[in-house]
Amino acid sequence: MAKGRVIIGITGASGLQYGVRAAEVLSGLGFDVHTVVSDWAKKTAAAEGYPAFASGLKKYSKKVYDEDALGADISSSSFDVYGMIIIPCSIKTMAEVASGIASNLISRSALNMLRSRKRLVVVVREAPLGMIELENALRITRAGGIILPASPAFYSHPKSVEDMIDFVVGKALDAMSISHNMYPRWPSAKK
Ligand SMILES: Cc1cc2nc3c(=O)[nH]c(=O)nc-3n(C[C@H](O)[C@H](O)[C@H](O)COP(=O)(O)O)c2cc1C
Repeated sequence: MAKGRVIIGITGASGLQYGVRAAEVLSGLGFDVHTVVSDWAKKTAAAEGYPAFASGLKKYSKKVYDEDALGADISSSSFDVYGMIIIPCSIKTMAEVASGIASNLISRSALNMLRSRKRLVVVVREAPLGMIELENALRITRAGGIILPASPAFYSHPKSVEDMIDFVVGKALDAMSISHNMYPRWPSAKK
């Protein structure tokens, strides 16, 4: 019996490894992971040289959807789901969600979370952020979502890129109120 269902949205922002790791950890914790991949996530995976992207997602997800699968089960707010993480989230998808534009299965599912008062964590990755992006982030926060920048900390003394990925994914799980042990918490991380 699965612990529950979680939707993961993966967009064309840098660091798709965050999304695959989130799917791995959530499935390991016993969740049914429903993953939506944007067209630009696939192109970004190719551009960043991440050949294991598609196979990793398939391995850790109960179902993987394309962004245009608007007729899918998860497109409906009747889908019984604990919450959703968009990881990594582009500023384009953040803008769509902030504007209430449900043009694909990622923004549609995210808007379902907000209007149903379910958890939505948006792991945005872009730098710098301008007025428009910051206002979009504020709109999502006001609507009940959590904006979590993909910014690893150094107080946990990461020894590898994997440690840094785990810090960001762990913070996203914290924001979803899902227990885990992915990074050393302060002050136990102190050297
Ligand atoms: C290699 C590469 C890296 C990118 N990194 C980012 C990024 O970190 N953040 C971002 O907002 N957009 C980034 N983009 C641009 C997005 O992919 C682009 O805006 C796209 O329209 C996003 O669409 P989506 O949100 O539907 O995936 C990147 C594009 C490429 C090709």
